[in-house]
Amino acid sequence: MDKKQISILNLKKMKQEKQPITMLTAYDYIMASILDEAGVDIILVGDSLGNVVLGYESTVPVKLSDMLHHVKAVARGVKRALVVADMPFLTYHLSLKDTLENAGKLIQDGGAKAVKVEGGSQIIEDVRALVNAGIPVMGHLGLTPQFIYQIGSYKVQADTEQEAQQLMEDAVKLQEAGVFAIVLECVPAELAAKVTDMLDIPTIGIGAGVNCDGQVLVTHDLLGFKAGFKPKFVKQYANLHEEMMKAVKSYCNEVRERKFPAKEHSF
Ligand code: KIV
Repeated sequence: MDKKQISILNLKKMKQEKQPITMLTAYDYIMASILDEAGVDIILVGDSLGNVVLGYESTVPVKLSDMLHHVKAVARGVKRALVVADMPFLTYHLSLKDTLENAGKLIQDGGAKAVKVEGGSQIIEDVRALVNAGIPVMGHLGLTPQFIYQIGSYKVQADTEQEAQQLMEDAVKLQEAGVFAIVLECVPAELAAKVTDMLDIPTIGIGAGVNCDGQVLVTHDLLGFKAGFKPKFVKQYANLHEEMMKAVKSYCNEVRERKFPAKEHSF
C-alpha cells in the first residue's frame, strides 16, 4: 500500500481506475491511528459522534465545539488517510460568513482536510463558498440524519420515481458546485448505481449497494460495540461488545479474588 497522504485528487483517480474507496468513522486518536494503519482511505469524523460516543438520540444536538474537540484528536492519529469532518446541524445554514467561519475552524484549528455537509439544492451556495475558499467539500444525499425531525425515522430514501429524480438532480448540482465526492445513504442500490455512473466524482455508499465507488460504515457498528444494534446495511466484522464484556468481567473477578495484580505486575 502506498503510504503517501491521500488527497481528493487520488480519490478521483481511484474512481477512474475503478479502485474501490474505503471510508470509516473515527472520533478519537487511538481508533483513528488503527484505521489509518489498516489502510482506510478516508476517515470521517462523523456527527454520528452524537449517537455513538456522546449518547444522544440523534446527531442534532452535536455542536461545532464537540466536533472540533474530536477532529483534533483524530487528526493527531492520522498520517495517510484523508480526514473529513462533518459540519454539524445548523452550522452551514445561517449565512455564508457563518458557514465559512465554522468550516474554517474544523480545517484550521481541527486539522481536517475536508468537510462534509448534508443536503442538495438548498445548500449549493454554501458549497460554492466553501470550495471557492479552498475547502474541499463532500456531499451527503439520501438519508440525511440531520433532517430526522422532518423525515421521521431512519428508513430508505428516494424510493419513489419523483424522489429518485430529485436525488439525481441534487447530485449533479453538488458536482457542479464543486464537491469532490458524495455519500449516498440508504437509497435503492439501482439508483445509487445510476448516480455513480452519471457523476465524474466518486460516490461513497452506506446502505446503497455494491456499485458505489466506495463504501462507508460507522466503525463502532462494524466492530459490534453495541449489543443488539445491527441495521440491515451493516456487516459486523467483530463482536467487540462480547470481547470487552469478557475482558472486563475477568478483570473484576480477578481483582475480587486477589489474583490481579500477580507478582509479575508488582514492584
Ligand atoms: O455521521 C456519520 O457517521 C455519517 C456516515 C454514516 C456517512 O455521516
